[in-house]
Amino acid sequence: MTTRITLRRPDDWHLHLRDGAMLQTVLSYSAAQFGRAIVMPNLKTPVTTTALARAYRERIVAALPPGADFVPLMTVYLCDGTSADDLCRGFEDGVLTAAKLYPAGATTHSEHGVTSIAKVAPVLETMQAIGMPLLLHGESTDPAVDVFDREAVFIESTLRPLLRDFPALKVVLEHITTEEAADFVRADASGRLAATITPQHLMFNRNAIFTGGIRPHLYCLPVLKRERHRLALRRVATSGDARFFLGTDSAPHLRTLKETGCGCAGIFNAPVALQSYCTAFEEEGALDKLEAFASLNGPRFYGLAPNEASVTLERSSWEVPQDVELAAGGALHPFLGGSRLPWALRDAPVPEPVAA
Ligand code: DOR
Ligand code: ZN
Repeated sequence: MTTRITLRRPDDWHLHLRDGAMLQTVLSYSAAQFGRAIVMPNLKTPVTTTALARAYRERIVAALPPGADFVPLMTVYLCDGTSADDLCRGFEDGVLTAAKLYPAGATTHSEHGVTSIAKVAPVLETMQAIGMPLLLHGESTDPAVDVFDREAVFIESTLRPLLRDFPALKVVLEHITTEEAADFVRADASGRLAATITPQHLMFNRNAIFTGGIRPHLYCLPVLKRERHRLALRRVATSGDARFFLGTDSAPHLRTLKETGCGCAGIFNAPVALQSYCTAFEEEGALDKLEAFASLNGPRFYGLAPNEASVTLERSSWEVPQDVELAAGGALHPFLGGSRLPWALRDAPVPEPVAA
């Protein structure tokens, strides 16, 4: 039985770090696990320009624990009025790595998002020309569409025509949750389409949200789906296929804002991300594929070198804490809080509240 596994240091290709006191608390957990992360731009005031992304990057770097080996890769939030010139300059200056498209109204802080692809066509033309990846929150916002069908509908109504109209645009379908998405990405032979997969979508199906009562800490968007979808995601994640890679979608919200009459979507999985992926890969008998998924496929898609440093996971059962306290007050309930994981990350202590 494998008792230890060493990988090139992985990267997180989809992460919400927030700002201020929340950033200060959550950043150390991602920095302990990952060498780089694609940082989502959906702050309360979204990161809509290169200047805002540069300033946000500075705040992230200033919040890093001493000695951290972590590089934030910045994204810009597309709006109907986004300037193609600003995006182009930001990308060419190395401030921006990608642009994120939230269909307006699809999820947390997406109200300034894009109302139709036509509105951002000139921006997408520019991105296609300069090789800047488009990161998609792939859900239909048509209120008539069932919440469990929104990803599958988005693929046919928006993604398929988008790929046809922008035949060289690099696209990441973020946090895929369905067999339809897995199959769609696998069917693309162009090499310019990829997908990220979260730990929660590999570990749970939608029954988990309703087991013994309603479980707000398992609510995220896109929402967990049926078992057949979870199994399809496991198959592609563990296949070694370079089009699928790690993106946690760790999305912290205060416990009080999740345990309420209208709870926020988002799962704070940063403290347990790699340990969770490792558990899922072992269950599939695919520990030998974990490094490709976590550390190699993402950099390859983004045209970056894999990290030189390494991390080691050890077989050691540990209990995930129920709470991570914010120095400024309030608490986060981490993914799997209160349960045990069979894999631990060496040199990354069990999460503890960060001192001010
Ligand atoms: O569950 C989610 N939370 N999905 C998203 O798309 C956004 C995220 C957040 O920012 O909280
Ligand atoms: Zn996200």
